[in-house]
Order: sequence, then structure tokens, then C-alpha cells
Amino acid sequence: GEAITVADLAQKLALKGGDVVKALFKMGVMATITQTIDHDTAVLVVEELGHKAVRADSDDAESELVAHVAEVQGEQATRPPVVTIMGHVDHGKTSLLDYIRTTKVATGEAGGITQHIGAYHVETPKGVISFLDTPGHAAFTSMRARGAKLTDIVVLVVAADDGVMPQTVEAVQHARAAKVPLIVAINKIDKSTADPNRIKNELLEHQVVAEDFGGETQMVELSAKTGMGVDDLLDAISLQAEVLELRAVQDGRATGTVIESSLDKGRGPVATVLVQQGRLNRGDYLVCGVQYGRVRALFDENGQAVDGAGPSIPVQVLGLSGVPDAGDDFVVVDDERLAKDVAQQREAKRRETRLVQAAGNRMEDIMAQM
Ligand code: GTP
Ligand code: MG
Repeated sequence: GEAITVADLAQKLALKGGDVVKALFKMGVMATITQTIDHDTAVLVVEELGHKAVRADSDDAESELVAHVAEVQGEQATRPPVVTIMGHVDHGKTSLLDYIRTTKVATGEAGGITQHIGAYHVETPKGVISFLDTPGHAAFTSMRARGAKLTDIVVLVVAADDGVMPQTVEAVQHARAAKVPLIVAINKIDKSTADPNRIKNELLEHQVVAEDFGGETQMVELSAKTGMGVDDLLDAISLQAEVLELRAVQDGRATGTVIESSLDKGRGPVATVLVQQGRLNRGDYLVCGVQYGRVRALFDENGQAVDGAGPSIPVQVLGLSGVPDAGDDFVVVDDERLAKDVAQQREAKRRETRLVQAAGNRMEDIMAQM
């Protein structure tokens, strides 16, 4: 499919550019009038616009938020890749994530409270890489449903002593549908029964062709147990990231997505977010799904307090009014009033939708009894 600018799409639909920007925003896609969106996103936004008439009243808090976001167009610069690890049961996804985290995470873990936070970043000689530590399929479904892209690269783990299995194929299909490049990690090569060539041959049947087979897919042989080949995988990720030319606004108000959230007895609502544009700082006001608040504290993956986080960096946020949902977007705003207005308006809309659904369900019950 072809890419199109937001302005051109708006013209084709005989709509105001701002309305398209607003609809995109509701889908979790931050774009300005002059920006280009891909074909799939265009189709999704047309559907979104077709389903609901876009309200154009100017005092709508959501419109004000959109205008606010549109201002965040600072300098773009290279950003780190965000990687999701997928693969069949027991092929070594968790082992690989654990090996990378325990051996490569930059800040000293000694003394710090290591806690699981759905994502972490590592510093390699070739740059920073962020890993999403969520079930790959979950990351993909929420990402596809929202039309937003959280993952830049999929690392597909295939155990060299086993072979291509149903979930391996599923992961290939997910990545292909989302147009996210794959890197294959052929794992467990420390085992005597490992047969990497067999994996490459089996992947051929699914049109995933290794570079040494004349194709374009990087495949790295490694062991998540001994660590052999893991540095090669990190190199392969950095190389793929370079090809993708990933860029983001470095400074200014942050936007991003919630990866996971919980209610902590002592600390209140806690959200792990991935910053996607701008820089999230302690003290910032933000809207996050139907929640809002002021960032009271930020923590990195080692439980260390940090002052801020830039693009592609995951960070834990304290200070929200309630627990947001994984997949919710967040936006930093200048003042608490706007944050509160937007959050409350969203909450009201959500309640309205629930009431309508409940009424619909009751109607169905009644019909069923007739
Ligand atoms: P699920 O989360 O259940 O889908 O599994 P997983 O893909 O996360 O696999 P996990 O990391 O739990 O590994 C499964 C088993 O394989 C464990 O017993 C690991 O110790 C073992 N394992 C993982 N990687 C390697 C490896 O490189 N070499 C060897 N010998 N064993 C490995
Ligand atoms: Mg696992």
C-alpha cells in the first residue's frame, strides 16, 4: 500500500486535517498534518472516522490535548530500537531475556532492588537496545488493535534441538502482518543434538530465508545458557536498527504507551511506560488513559530513581490518580487542569459506552426469552 500525508487524507475525506489528527490520536498514533502515515494506518483511521462522527467543538478537552501534542515537534534524532522476543514454548525466550538482563544491564544492580518491570534497556558498544519483557503475542495484539507500533524488531527464538513449531510459525505471521522485521535466534546450540541448519531449512518453507541461504533474514546461533553468541545477537539488532533509521523527538513533552501497571500497597498506582517521543521528567503533568497526575517519582529497571527518560526508554511512573490499562497511551501536558479535564472526559465516555453495552446486553436477554 501507499503512504499518504494526513493533509491529503483529510482532503480526500473532505474533513478538517485536525479531525483526522484527532482520530489518529485516539488510535494511539501521534501525527501532525504534514506527517505521512502508512496505508494500514490510513485504512484504520478511515474506519474510525466512519464509525463515529468526529466532534469538532473547540472547547472539547480532547481537542485541546491534540493541539497540545501537535506542538511537540522538536528536533528528531536517532532513537534506540524496541525489541520483542517471541517463539515456541520452552524454546528459551525467558532464558534469553534473563541472560541479557543479568549480564548487560548498565547500572550496577548491587544494592539496588531488582524488580520485574515489563521492559528494560541495555547499553551495548553499538548503542542502547530496549527489550519488552511481556508475552510477545500480547504485545502484538494490543499493538495491532491500536494501530500503534510499540515493537521495532522481533527476535524469534527457535530451539536448535527442536525445530520450527506452531508458535514459531504464528510469530512469523504476526511479524509479517505488522511489517516488523525478524531476527532469528537459533538457541540451545550448546546441546549435542542441536542442528542449526535444520532450523534454517524448515524456516525456508515459511519464506524466512537466512542470509547464508541468499535471503535477507539475519540468523544468529546462540546459547541462552552459556551466553555464547548473545553478543552477535545484540550486534544483529543494532544493524537492523540502523537499517530502520528509527527516529524520535528527543526533548519536549513526552508521549508513549503503558506496558504494564499495578496497584502497590505503599506506592499507590504504578505504571511502567515506554517513552516514544520527547522526554518524560519528574514533576511533569500527564494524562494516561482515563487517569492523570503529576510524576512524583521515576524508576529504571533496577529500581533506581531517575530524573527523566527519553525515547524508547522504559520507566516506572508514580503519581497517577489510578491504575491505567496496559496499552493506554500517555501524554505530558503543561497544566494539571487540562490533564484532569481530558481524563474525566474519557472516563465519562467510557462509562457511557459501558451503559450502552449493558443496555444492549439486556435487550439481547429479553429477545432471547421471547
Ligand atoms: P515458555 O515461557 O514456557 O514459553 O518458555 P521459554 O521460551 O521462556 O523457555 P525458557 O527460557 O523457560 O527455557 C525452557 C527450558 O530450556 C529451560 O529448562 C531452560 O533452562 C532451557 N534452556 C533455555 N535456553 C537454553 C540453552 O541455550 N541451552 C540449554 N541447554 N538449555 C536452555
Ligand atoms: Mg518464558
